[in-house]
Formats: sequence, structure tokens, C-alpha cells
Amino acid sequence: MDSPYMHWAKTHQTARYTLAISGIKGLKLGEVGATWDDLVLDGGDGYGLPALRAALAAKAGVSDDRIVLATGTSGANHLAFATLLAPRDEVAMERPGYEPMEMLARHLGATVRYFPRRPENGFRVDPADVAAAVTAKTRLIVLSTLHNPTSVATDEATLRAVGEIAERAGAKVLVDEAYLDAAFDSAPPSAGRLGDVFVVTTSLTKVFGLSGLRCGWIVAEPALASRIWQLKNLFGVNEAHPAACLALCALRRSGEILARARLILEANRAMWEAFLVGREDLAVEGASRGTTVFPRVLSYDADALCAHLRERYETSLVPGRFFGSPSHVRVGLCGDPEIFREGLARLGSALNDLEGAV
Ligand SMILES: Cc1ncc(COP(=O)(O)O)c(C=O)c1O
Repeated sequence: MDSPYMHWAKTHQTARYTLAISGIKGLKLGEVGATWDDLVLDGGDGYGLPALRAALAAKAGVSDDRIVLATGTSGANHLAFATLLAPRDEVAMERPGYEPMEMLARHLGATVRYFPRRPENGFRVDPADVAAAVTAKTRLIVLSTLHNPTSVATDEATLRAVGEIAERAGAKVLVDEAYLDAAFDSAPPSAGRLGDVFVVTTSLTKVFGLSGLRCGWIVAEPALASRIWQLKNLFGVNEAHPAACLALCALRRSGEILARARLILEANRAMWEAFLVGREDLAVEGASRGTTVFPRVLSYDADALCAHLRERYETSLVPGRFFGSPSHVRVGLCGDPEIFREGLARLGSALNDLEGAV
């Protein structure tokens, strides 16, 4: 079992002018507000750094006994899936969607059924489509908000409707909120506050721009959180303690750190929108916020565009085929705005080359 997307990301995402990243980059140690004395090298006993659990519980608006620490959102997804799934169970999963989650469910012996997020519906979750993918064997419904790759948010009414579908089936709803902070002050409520049928996974990786800390966590009802902690004892003891100390510093600075992310995203989005004006070879359905956009490439093969852009222009995009949408590409708005500006200019040149070739 493997993840072709993750292998691609580790070998092809970086480029001189990358438009492929989905997490804010370049935060410095000083911007996290940490000093050497904050980095405690021993420690890490027990069920996670208590102050970090408390800070994450406060951020999520829940009690500490609902928080399980994990290695990034990926580790959180693994722990939650492994606790909730047994071989031959079914998982209803969004498509387009984040492929490593699908591979994880398959790795655990589950069968994956998809519910579509339709471009003509602005990639929103339609509870009727979710219901159609749920059977008596479904144990987990999985979606992301903000949605990777389109950045579309799922509103509270839709989440509650999906929660009711899960309750009727005896399943849970796992909501991957790795990108939710990118909705800033217009964020819908975290699913972790909407009832015990929801399990939330997230991290400081994307919008905080702290991918190196690998600070992830799960929000789940206390009995399930306790089961997850027990299973986690088989996988490893705890996360790296100095990383937990740095995560705690970062959470105390969340206002400044998120304000920085917002400035980068707003600058890059303004450039993206200006770039789209008059471009008849790209169509965007979906959100006008978040860390990524997911245009459809209208006249050319999307994979060929990605390959040409990389080979000729040292610029990378994520091919939509990794999300189950081969005619789309994912553009990340997270990079340094000067790099992003140059990357967009190069994307324009690559599109123009293909236009000349047809
Ligand atoms: C939806 C989703 N979940 C999880 C992850 C992985 O997050 P982390 O790096 O915190 O493990 C990603 C990264 O791209 C993602 O897009």
C-alpha cells in the first residue's frame, strides 16, 4: 500500500517557483515567540504536554478530555481511522478529495465509496449525495473543510445534516479541518462543537505555517478520545517534546501568526484574480477564500500543462488527477508573494505555449 500523491509531493512539489504548496511558509523561530528556555529536551511523559492540550482545547472550544495529540493531521487521521475502522467496514469519502486518506482507509481493509462534490454545485457537500454513499456497513463519513483541493467551506446546517445521516447508520463523521483557520473570521464552527458524532482532525501545519512541528490533534467525545489514546500507545509514546513546547508558544501568538498568513493569502489571491481576467482557458468553480484554488483546464490536458510548466518554466502545480479530477489543477496561494507573482507569469506563458500548439 502506498500514496502516489504523497510520493509525488515529496519529489515534485518543490520547484523554483512553486504554485503547488498548500501551507504557509517561512515563519521564523522568533515569530513564534520562543526562547531557548522554552525548548525543554526531556519531558513528554504522560498523555501529552498538559498546557498544550489545554491550549488546543481552548482553541477548539471543548474540554481537555476531548483532545488527543498526534503527529500532524496525517497522524491524527491515522489514529482516528485505525480506532474506528475494521476490515470490510465501509467509508464514505468526498471526491475530489485528499488521496492519502483514501489509501489509509484501504490500508485498514475498509471499502471506500465516494460521494461527489460537484463543480456545478460549487463543490459543496450535498447531504443527498452523502446519503447515497452510505450503507449498513458504513462506519465513517469523511470530508474536509476547508475542502482540499477547492477550499470550499461546509456550513453548519450541512454538517448537521451529514451528522444525522451518520447517526442513522451508526457511523461517525470525520471532518479534516487542516485548512479551517484559513477562513479567518468568517470560519463556520468547528465540527468538534456540533455533537459527539463528529471527530475532527487538524494541525498547525497549513495556516499557522508550522509544518516542521508536526503538531496535530484530534477532537473527539471523551470515551472515543480515550480509546484513541490507548491505541496510540501501540504506535508510539508521544510526539517530540521540544516541538510540543514550540507549538504552545505559537498558540500563544496565534493572533499575529494568523494575521501574517492572512496578508500572504490576500496578496496572492488578488494576483490570482487579476491573472484570471481574460483567461479563457481556465474556469474556476469553488471558493473565494482559503489556501488553494482548483481551476479546470479547459482546452488542454491538465497533466501536460503541469509537465510543460515544470520542465520549461521551473514552476509546479498539483495535477488534479491526484484528487480524482484529472481535468483540474490545484494552485496554492501560500508562497512568498514575489515568488507567486513570478510563478503566475510563468503559468501564463505555459498556457500561451499550449494555445499556440493546438
Ligand atoms: C486534507 C489534508 N489532511 C491532512 C494533511 C496533512 O497534514 P499534516 O502535514 O499536518 O500531517 C493535508 C496536507 O496536505 C491535507 O491536505
